[in-house]
Amino acid sequence: MKPLQIHELNSIYDMLSLKGKVAFVTGGAGGIGRSCAAGLAEAGADVVLMDIPVKEDVLRANCEAIEKRYGSKTMYVMGDVSKEEDVIRMIDETVQQMGRLDIVFANAGVGGRDDNPGQIEAAEWRKVIDIDLTGVFLVDRTAANVMKKLGNGGSIINTASMSGHIINKGSRADMSKHMAAYAAAKAGVIQFTKSMGVSYVEDNIRCNSISPGMILSGLHDNMDMEALEAFVADSVPMNRFASLNEIMGIVVFLASDLSSYATGSDFVIDGGVTIW
Ligand SMILES: NC(=O)c1ccc[n+]([C@@H]2O[C@H](COP(=O)([O-])OP(=O)(O)OC[C@H]3O[C@@H](n4cnc5c(N)ncnc54)[C@H](O)[C@@H]3O)[C@@H](O)[C@H]2O)c1
Repeated sequence: MKPLQIHELNSIYDMLSLKGKVAFVTGGAGGIGRSCAAGLAEAGADVVLMDIPVKEDVLRANCEAIEKRYGSKTMYVMGDVSKEEDVIRMIDETVQQMGRLDIVFANAGVGGRDDNPGQIEAAEWRKVIDIDLTGVFLVDRTAANVMKKLGNGGSIINTASMSGHIINKGSRADMSKHMAAYAAAKAGVIQFTKSMGVSYVEDNIRCNSISPGMILSGLHDNMDMEALEAFVADSVPMNRFASLNEIMGIVVFLASDLSSYATGSDFVIDGGVTIW
């Protein structure tokens, strides 16, 4: 085999295209979910947005906005990613109505409370692990087994977090607040992504994760904004939150053939936080 010459290289725009593909996005009513679903649609995919039933109005509005702006086909499904029967039903509905499944963005998640290991209640710990880690496991393996049967390969992208790499630092005044369950769940997502990558490599199904830093998405709506801004000033070398424009690109890249040699890897987008 010889290395390619310039005139033999593919166009990066052709490799980025997701035309004819179907993407399933969990947490599709939330900030990162809606922006990445929009990015996938702009690259040519039809998209299925998934979230919990109380978010039905937001899901419907997001589908309408995506169809209007990009002309992609959309639909939404509702359920709980931590319940296996819901996940199986929603992936089934996707394939029945859209005819295929090529891209999965397992992105639904909750922040959980600030508690450290000494404070956190077991029920809160279980809730965060159930949604943020078990939810990713259930979505990934259900989708991968369906993709395997369909025989077209696929790309699965999991949302981990910079908190899967570091422990969130509380303010100087209260170093105890660091979201113990969230950090454990997100570190679990990064490791689980490696198992997924190797398990389905022969089926041409890739699995990677993204680790966002501070993204202004809606996740922080009920959190202490003053403390978050202090964290940004203290710990983010870029000294600002990211906007939703700054997270779409990595997900579209990982969904597309531009990343065809990447599997089992984690991609950090955090304004430099984990440099330290
Ligand atoms: N925004 C950030 O700074 C940031 C940083 C790192 C990681 N993340 C991760 O990004 C992902 C998306 O978060 P976001 O920032 O868009 O926040 P968001 O709150 O806007 O979106 C999260 C979505 O997940 C949904 N969800 C929660 N529990 C669910 C369940 N059991 N089943 C199905 N859906 C459920 C919520 O209803 C919500 O729409 C999460 O996994 C989050 O942990 C966010």
